[in-house]
Order: sequence, then structure tokens, then C-alpha cells
Amino acid sequence: SRVIFSGIQPTGTPHLGNFLGALQNWVRLQEDSQPEDVLIYSIVGWHSLTLPQNPHALAVARREMLAALLAIGLDPKRVIIFHQDDNPHHTDLSWVFNCITPVGKLRRMTTWKARLATSRNAKDESEVDESMLNTGLFTYPVLQAADILLYKATHVPVGEDQKQHIELARDIGDNFNRTFRDLFPLPAYIATPTRRVLSLKDPTSKMSKSSPDISSRILLTDSEKEIRTKIRSAVTDSITGVTYDPATRPGTSNLLSILGACTNEEPAVVAKRFESKGHGDLKADVADAVVALLERPRTEFERLRGEEAYITRIAKEGVEKAMVRSGATMREVRHSVGLR
Ligand code: TYM
Repeated sequence: SRVIFSGIQPTGTPHLGNFLGALQNWVRLQEDSQPEDVLIYSIVGWHSLTLPQNPHALAVARREMLAALLAIGLDPKRVIIFHQDDNPHHTDLSWVFNCITPVGKLRRMTTWKARLATSRNAKDESEVDESMLNTGLFTYPVLQAADILLYKATHVPVGEDQKQHIELARDIGDNFNRTFRDLFPLPAYIATPTRRVLSLKDPTSKMSKSSPDISSRILLTDSEKEIRTKIRSAVTDSITGVTYDPATRPGTSNLLSILGACTNEEPAVVAKRFESKGHGDLKADVADAVVALLERPRTEFERLRGEEAYITRIAKEGVEKAMVRSGATMREVRHSVGLR
């Protein structure tokens, strides 16, 4: 039997990258699961504090993320959905893991290196170093390892940007097992069919919640009109015809992989259909497909986001189920390290 765990930060409305890179797969795993499998999906509030947040906006986004997870088709009778910050065991275990994780390992995380690079570009290079970034940003992959191992997860479905963090979780689990006792199974990364959705405005970077340009991403809440406008204005290239070549044609290839994700085809196969057509035709088809893909989740989300009492009840039931499992692990961990 499998224990599947994944998480998402409640930093705003989920976008097409979250949906194709992760959330759609969460639903697929639910549909394909066996009765003995355990599926646990967490809204990771503590992680979102690593960047400055508006407290009021965060409180709203935190609740709405739960509504979004229900809206895409997750069924609280079949999966555990809960807020990470409702369960104190996550920060407890992350402390234990901090104490067995070398600083050098965290310095090698590409997410950390990207943060350093961003702050270097923003200011005079000589003045900026890691002393200007907060410690939470540095140790955030350790908290992520705690999220996963607390439930003795065997499989973690995430987008490609999170793959290195899953490898770190394996490392930390292995280190704990060898230092204390064999407690944690080492979790496997599950690749999603669409590993990486790129920004519609800058196809050299991933579609992200934090980009200031709102037209770079498609949100679960976007209207049909907004979706069409954003896709029509997506950055492609001036090469005639349509081919799938992510290295030299990232914008065009991104549209092909989005369309392929919607139609369940390889992007290169999709490209064949557009061989003698142009970007305009491709964009029209991508827009149709994305509008159709998001229509039901969007309507459901609009309905559910106002159902505060229901959302609160699901969160409460979810964390109760999660804590039965995490509590058992924490007792074993405390016993193992000598703090019983
Ligand atoms: P987060 O909140 O940034 O993203 C949630 C999920 O969406 C995927 N994703 C993408 N996939 C493809 N293309 C994109 N442009 C794109 N943007 C986001 C991410 O890979 C992720 O699967 N650290 C995690 C949250 C986390 C977690 C965990 C995940 C905390 N603890 C334990 C798994 C297990 C994060 O910041 O994801």
C-alpha cells in the first residue's frame, strides 16, 4: 500500500502551472487509488511565511486554497486535506531534522541559489550576500522533509521545480534512520505528466504566483475572456510554422505542452497537427482547451469559496485524521532521540 503526500502554499489563487504540474495529478491519484492507499494533501501555511505576506490576504488565501482543492475534485471522504499550520507536529519534526542536516546541503538547493541570484541582480552585487535573506527561506526544504516523513509517505507527486527537495527528504530520512533507528521509508518523487509550465510572458522562467505580471499566468478564477486575452498575448517567436523544440522555441513549446496536457497527447504529436498552420491557430486551440479544462473547477470554486462553515469543518476533520498519523510518528521520533 502507498502513502502519497503532497503540499501547496496558500499564497494566492492556484494557477495553470499548479493545476497541470501538480493538482490535476492529485485528483488522478485519488481516482486511481486502491482502498488501502492513504492520500494526504496539505496546505502549507508555514512555508508561505518565508516571503513577506499581507496577513489579511494570507488568511483569505489560506481558506480559499482549501475551497480550490475541493473544487478541482478532491473528495475529503477519500483523501485527507488539512492545513499544515493546524498540526504542530510539522514544526516539531522539522526541528529534529534541522539538527541532523548539514548547512552545506541546504546551500546546494537550487531554490536557495535562485533566491541569491535574484537578490544579486536586484542590487549592487558586492553588497548582497546571504546575510540579507531570512533563515526560513534557507531551512524551508527541511520543513518540507518533515511534512513528508511525518506521514511516512512513500510517494510525493510534485512539479519538477520541487524534485530536488524530495531528494533532500530522502537524504534526511536516510540520515535519521542511520543515526537513530530505521523509522522512515524513503519517499519516491512522482513526476507529473506536465512537469513544468512556463510563464506566458517570459518563457525562460516557470509560471509562478510571485511574478508581478498578472498576464504571465492563468488563474483558476480567470473568466473565459481573461483566459483568451492572456493566451493571445503569450510570448512566442517569429519563426514561421509550429514545431516542438523547448530549447530554441520555449514559448511555442510551452503552448504545445499546455495543449497536450489538456488533450492527453505528447507535445510533439500536437505539433504535427499545426505543421502547416501558425501561432494564431495554435493559440486559438490552446485557449479553447484551457477554457474547457478550467470551466468546472472555476464554477465549483466560485460556489465553494463562500461556504465558510463547510470549509472550516473539512479543515477540522482533516487535521484530526492527519494528527492520528503524525502523532504516532512523533512518539517514535521522540523515543528514538531520547526525548520521550
Ligand atoms: P508550490 O506551492 O510552489 O507549488 C505547488 C505545486 O505546484 C507545482 N508547480 C508547478 N508545476 C509545473 N509548472 C509550474 N510552473 C509550477 N509552479 C508550481 C509545484 O511543483 C508543486 O508541486 N515547497 C512546495 C510545497 C510543499 C510540499 C511539501 C510539496 C511543502 N511541503 C511536501 C510536496 C511535499 C511549494 O512551494 O510548492
